[in-house]
Amino acid sequence: MTLLKIAELGHPVLFGMALPVESVTSTCVQTLISDMTETMTDSGGVGLAAPQVYRSLRLFVAKRMDLGEEAGKAEPFVLCNPKLEWVGEERVSGIEGCLSIPGMRAIVPRYEKLRYEGWNASGEPIEGYAQGHFARVIQHEYDHLEGILYPARLADWRHMASMSQLEELERHLQAGSPVPS
Ligand code: NI
Repeated sequence: MTLLKIAELGHPVLFGMALPVESVTSTCVQTLISDMTETMTDSGGVGLAAPQVYRSLRLFVAKRMDLGEEAGKAEPFVLCNPKLEWVGEERVSGIEGCLSIPGMRAIVPRYEKLRYEGWNASGEPIEGYAQGHFARVIQHEYDHLEGILYPARLADWRHMASMSQLEELERHLQAGSPVPS
């Protein structure tokens, strides 16, 4: 496995619409999935989308936070050609970062619960529900496939801050950050 270079904010690969994965079981896609999983773990991220490693494909990996810490390490969540559908209208604000925007964090509103479908790492169709933090990660990674980065989702530009100001963001969040309707 190989650690991959991560594209950072400003690079055009992050702003394009990614293309469907045609053959999940092909050697190049299988290698990409392994390398992305290793790169995500090495970087301390909870999710990584293919455009972030300069591959404009509709594919992301994420930690299975819904399964708990140990199981999450053992079995990374892989979703190819995803489709998402919100369950209810509830949105919640939470703090997010992105490996492509190093040193920054922001308060981002996301849907609380969603239904996903797509293909797993073996190319088999999968579907399921996610909520809370895991649903947040799935929405963040899906956005990468659409060329959208989290600053485009902010309710207020003052909700983005350097890591050194993380306490300010937490203060904002506890004070009840407004969620746009
Ligand atoms: Ni990201």
